[in-house]
Amino acid sequence: MIPPFPATAAFRAGRLRTLGGVDVDELAQQHGTPLYVVDEAELRGRMRAYRRAFGDGVAVTYAAKALCVTGVLQIAAAEGLHLDVASGGELHTAVRAGFPAGRIIFHGNNKSVAELEQAVRVGVRHVVVDSFAELERLDALGRARMRAGGAPVPVLLRITPGIEAHTHEFISTGQDDSKFGFTLSAGLADAAVASARDAQGLALAGLHCHVGSQVTVPEAFDAVAEVMVGVFADVQRRHGVALSELNLGGGLGIAYEPHEEVLDVATYGARLLAGVHAACARRGMPVPRLAVEPGRSIVGPAGVTLYRVGTRKEIPGVRTYVSVDGGMSDNLRPALYGARYTFAAAGAPADGADRTDGADGADGADVVTVAGKHCESGDVLGRDVLLAAPVAEGDLLAVAATGAYGHAMASNYNRLARPAMVLVGHGRTRVLVRRETLDDVVARDVVLSDVTGDEGATGAPAASPYTRAP
Ligand code: LLP
Repeated sequence: MIPPFPATAAFRAGRLRTLGGVDVDELAQQHGTPLYVVDEAELRGRMRAYRRAFGDGVAVTYAAKALCVTGVLQIAAAEGLHLDVASGGELHTAVRAGFPAGRIIFHGNNKSVAELEQAVRVGVRHVVVDSFAELERLDALGRARMRAGGAPVPVLLRITPGIEAHTHEFISTGQDDSKFGFTLSAGLADAAVASARDAQGLALAGLHCHVGSQVTVPEAFDAVAEVMVGVFADVQRRHGVALSELNLGGGLGIAYEPHEEVLDVATYGARLLAGVHAACARRGMPVPRLAVEPGRSIVGPAGVTLYRVGTRKEIPGVRTYVSVDGGMSDNLRPALYGARYTFAAAGAPADGADRTDGADGADGADVVTVAGKHCESGDVLGRDVLLAAPVAEGDLLAVAATGAYGHAMASNYNRLARPAMVLVGHGRTRVLVRRETLDDVVARDVVLSDVTGDEGATGAPAASPYTRAP
């Protein structure tokens, strides 16, 4: 095992050979590349680690935005997790996965009325209200529901507590510049509690916050516990409301490269709980029902992407480019955030050669820049990455920790068909998402039937030549 690849990743001579007990060459042959591979043991292991770390009383709420596919949500439901959805599409996926509505909460800074109606109809546990306009819209829906004999809509309020958590630091600004939530420092949180309390169509259950993602500084979570327990106590006292629920958001960072130090789930859980308990004890208040909302730290390390190397370009004295059959359309994070990943040669060498005597040294190590196939110079997945074994054209290349925000942010840029996703475990492979076809890619384009020009009229093209029956 080479971190941050999952524990089931088996290497031979620096090359990734099996994942979840499945041969990676077979995976690539049967399902094509690029291929998103999800390691079931790592995925379930992380879900269980969260439940153990926080205990039964805390709602471990998987943030579906990190990876929202039906099968993964089915597993989350089976593991007893709750679910955070951030759009009608994510909610639709959750319903399709049979996720119990009573364990779903609905987020978003600009939910449409149709989405709010959908959430109320499905009967989600809480809508996390993000703005005054939404309070009004949801109150109207709640009152309509009550006129029909139903209950008011249960809500949490998203508070923006003035803690900015970045990867390597956290800043408690006391001032906030965010599109999300009710800003504490500006007095908006107070006003929102008063409005929600008085809204007949709403049942105010508690507060929520989320201060950042890929957070690696534990002090940021201490600050969240301290500040949010304080707000929780204050608003109850000042507005005469009884709140029961405090959701502390997600954000736990993961290691993308072997040397990165991050909190493990158990340490994070213990520290956050200790912070909340201490802050409650200091105020002589009971500990509210808690929730956390991890996304990346549940699915990220469980994902590995397999690519096929197409070309290798050596620019003497500059660098060596290895181009793969995907890129920014299946993993936007390097191009968008400058995110770095860990790479490894995978499978047997395509030409059967023994490459232990490598390009860049006797130990077989190789330093390459991994480029995608998009028509854009910025389409680089990894700059000057070290491979323990070298890669040549036709070889597989694996990237670790791609489970979160990879597939979730995939596109069809350059009209690439999006990759399949498979779940591996105990030597077995199950398809989670089938590969897109080129016909899928053009399926929503409407062919104009009346186009004329200098070349005369063009008839409607025939059905796809690729899918026509032989
Ligand atoms: N709860 C709320 C309200 C959130 O906005 C988020 C993430 C989470 C929970 C989950 O955070 P996590 O545990 O995954 O850090 N596309 C970016 C990440 C955006 C995160 C947005 N919100 C990336 O690829 O790094």
